[in-house]
Amino acid sequence: MIKKISTYLFFLLFVSSVGAKNQDLPIIDYSSITHPEIGTGGMVVSQRKVASEVGAKILREGGNAVDAAVATALALAVVLPRAGNLGGGGFMLIYSEELKKTVAIDYREMAPLQASRDMFLDSNGNYDRKKAQFSLLSAGVPGTVAGLHYALKKYGTLSWEVVIDPAITLAEDGFVVPHDLSSVLSNYRNRLTANAATARTYYKRNKVPYEAGEIIKLPDLAWSLKELKKQGPAAFYKGKIAEKIVAEMERNGGLITSEDLANYKVKERVPVKGIYKGYEIVSMPPSSSGGVHLIQMLNMLEPFSLKEMGFGSAQSIHLMSEVMKRAYADRSRYLGDTDFVSVPLIGLTNKEYAKALLKEISLTEVTSSEDISNGNPLPYESPDTTHFSVMDGKGNVVANTYTLNFSYGSGIVIPGTGILMNNEMDDFSSKKGVPNAYGLVGFEANEIKAQKRPLSSMTPTIVFKNQKPYLVLGSPGGSRIITTVLQVVINVLEHDMNIKQAVISPRIHHQWLPDVLLMEEGFSSDTIDLLKEKGHTIRPSRTMGSVQAIISKDNYLYGAADPRRPEAGAVVVSP
Ligand code: DON
Repeated sequence: MIKKISTYLFFLLFVSSVGAKNQDLPIIDYSSITHPEIGTGGMVVSQRKVASEVGAKILREGGNAVDAAVATALALAVVLPRAGNLGGGGFMLIYSEELKKTVAIDYREMAPLQASRDMFLDSNGNYDRKKAQFSLLSAGVPGTVAGLHYALKKYGTLSWEVVIDPAITLAEDGFVVPHDLSSVLSNYRNRLTANAATARTYYKRNKVPYEAGEIIKLPDLAWSLKELKKQGPAAFYKGKIAEKIVAEMERNGGLITSEDLANYKVKERVPVKGIYKGYEIVSMPPSSSGGVHLIQMLNMLEPFSLKEMGFGSAQSIHLMSEVMKRAYADRSRYLGDTDFVSVPLIGLTNKEYAKALLKEISLTEVTSSEDISNGNPLPYESPDTTHFSVMDGKGNVVANTYTLNFSYGSGIVIPGTGILMNNEMDDFSSKKGVPNAYGLVGFEANEIKAQKRPLSSMTPTIVFKNQKPYLVLGSPGGSRIITTVLQVVINVLEHDMNIKQAVISPRIHHQWLPDVLLMEEGFSSDTIDLLKEKGHTIRPSRTMGSVQAIISKDNYLYGAADPRRPEAGAVVVSP
């Protein structure tokens, strides 16, 4: 008997010691069909694993999250040319553990000095899509080089020369073309080879696309990067690259002058903040609409238990869709560059306002949006942007989303530089109430003005739990960025999904106008039938967004690269 008891006690001791040890191990839930990347000491998740490797190497060599982010962004400008860029702009959210605060760096493009409200209207007063999207006029003054350099100098620890080197090597020595790049270049062949410099940069002789497995070298881009290494941003805004940009603008009817380039300004802004069930949500303020509407939608959803409704249930999709509509209606009316127009930021992100909006929402019936009278509101072609997330081992976090707007932006490479110019001017509202490429309508707040920044939807976001960074994420997807980020946040905070599952799960989108509920594949036909019964007009959608996210929990980092785009990858500093 005594022997039995002692064996039992020994067993208890053994079990409890295993239990105690387990608390130090990463969480692997074997009942889950998805698993995030797990690591310690830092992680980089981007849309190209080779670029994540560049960032992770910087972390291993002692750089902080900002050093790694800048190196990753510069590498993406080489290996992900449809979205990574030097000729575009974007937003970087940085949480500094040392300063215990988050800053928002706005390096969005600025309208050139000669830009004017009606510049994209033809002689009949109609929106001229070609001018607004595919000409040199569509390019805003790029902010990427200035923004990355600003972030590095103020919040990084390594030199510009060190973080730019990996990008130079990739451009000069070349890199292996993945299937994703070869198929996109072949899909866009007509548009991209229409421009001689673009054809020369990204295609072989006779405009033949590279095949997967071949090496692509980008010597002109390598030249630009080396100029940047020597001179810093001055090369781009005043030096030899500036000269080439201005010469091309003068040759082919663009508006960007040397004065525009010299006057480009990075803006460090205070992020927008909200609370959702005890978590602090910190996100991008204007000139992006992303953070404001993410918080507004979370405020509207807070009184409900989406968990009880269940992921993918008709009830929860109905509620989210009604909430999305209200936010996008406000976006159209109120949002614009706060350096030019006043935006009711406090009002829009206020919980009382959310409550007032909720009173108009029925849980059983659809409220219809106004009809839209213009053309096909869905994107003309698959557009692109890219987001990456970084956490280092010291508690610093970076969420960066940047873009050329469409895939390859305007499709125009500045001769001799390898640099693709953005077509971000189309994010302005060119004509009141007329949808842009994403079907977004806008009014005075987002009309074109010299030196104004076009309104964005990019939503780099950090969620804090007990004052510590918990979740970092963001996405491309045009108008769908904000709803994509919202759903991944809800999947984690409400549905308790691991980050991989949260990123993979199917998404919906409603943007008020057009009055359609977009749904990715993966929802059950029963759910769709129930939604139709409530009165929703449903349209199946291609994939929405490409979220790169990291969660920090109990000394481990859990990362997920979105499988919606091939070649994305999370790279850890150590296991
Ligand atoms: O700033 C914006 O909201 C758009 N220019 C982003 C474009 C985009 O996300 C395209 N990507 N899929």
